[in-house]
Amino acid sequence: MTDDSSPAYNGPRRILSGIQASGALHLGNYLGALKRFVALQDQGAPVFVFVADLHAITVWQEPEKLTSQTREIAAAYLASGLDPARTIIFPQSAVRAHAELAWVFNCVARLGWLDRMTQFKEKSGKHKERASVGLYTYPVLQAADILLYKATEVPVGEDQKQHLELTRDIAQKFNNDFGAPGFFPLPEPVIQGPATRVMSLRDGQAKMSKSDPSDLSRINLTDDADTIAAKIRKAKTDPEPLPDSLDALGERPEARNLIAIYAALSDQSREQVLAQFAGQGFGAFKPKLAELAVESLAPVTAEMRRLMGDPAEIDRVLRAGAERAAEVADRTVAEVRQIVGFWNG
Ligand code: AMP
Ligand code: TRP
Repeated sequence: MTDDSSPAYNGPRRILSGIQASGALHLGNYLGALKRFVALQDQGAPVFVFVADLHAITVWQEPEKLTSQTREIAAAYLASGLDPARTIIFPQSAVRAHAELAWVFNCVARLGWLDRMTQFKEKSGKHKERASVGLYTYPVLQAADILLYKATEVPVGEDQKQHLELTRDIAQKFNNDFGAPGFFPLPEPVIQGPATRVMSLRDGQAKMSKSDPSDLSRINLTDDADTIAAKIRKAKTDPEPLPDSLDALGERPEARNLIAIYAALSDQSREQVLAQFAGQGFGAFKPKLAELAVESLAPVTAEMRRLMGDPAEIDRVLRAGAERAAEVADRTVAEVRQIVGFWNG
């Protein structure tokens, strides 16, 4: 649907992403999202990173927990190395414009587009008539999150690719329908690095996810060193030694996953990791991976814990971020109101 030949957006580069405020973060979030956001901070373009609390309530959240989950994601951002002096960190719900633009986009997006969204199908399960309407229009709110800031690049894990395509379709249709060529950019997903899809430690075919009933399937950012090491020791593997090339790794999903995790944690390519471990079995590789994982995650989890003990510090960051984000967002909404023809007497 996206027609890239229409007049191009020629505004500045802006980077934006978010993580839902719904429960514990895991290694997939760290490698697929957090670590990527930190890497993008040094590119000279403004970076907006928010805590998606509006998205979180598309499934039930205990109100008294939602606030602390929001602070916990913010703590993870800071602990991973996002610098509030350079990056605008804020809670989504604190910038009212997200909800306002999402409504306009609900009237731009087509039912047929949303019917194709695989995440809704997965999350709503067998009883989709009992899912919230919000869960269905979730990707429309995501489009509003992105386009409010006229973001041009969105770092995410592989699972968000379809939502980014929908965002581009909404931007394109808005620009066309309202005769505002180039008003919204068509944002690019930035799905990069060796770990855009970290798999379960128990099943190399399933994504590492907070909804997996087995805690052994994932490494949580709150796990201590012993737990991390034990989970890696128990990770499913095969009896073969590691080969010296990715091609030779063939159809060994569990082996592929552990190599990808090692590569992402050590900022190397998977090829470099294989060159280092070729010929060795998992008996030798796993302790090295455990050591690396503990060494990389321990400072992050320690800093998260410290920050969670100082909610006032987190709140200061979030308040300042919300103020800066709202300046940009309110400007876009004012333009949209005019384009759509809302009364402004
Ligand atoms: P969520 O926790 O679903 O809000 O996801 C937050 C971010 O983490 C998104 O950019 C996801 O694409 C990314 N993410 C979630 N699970 C994984 C995974 N298993 N591997 C890589 N990235 C992931
Ligand atoms: N849907 C994303 C996820 O589950 C979170 C999210 C919400 C997001 N709004 C966004 C990601 C905007 C990037 C841009 O991972």
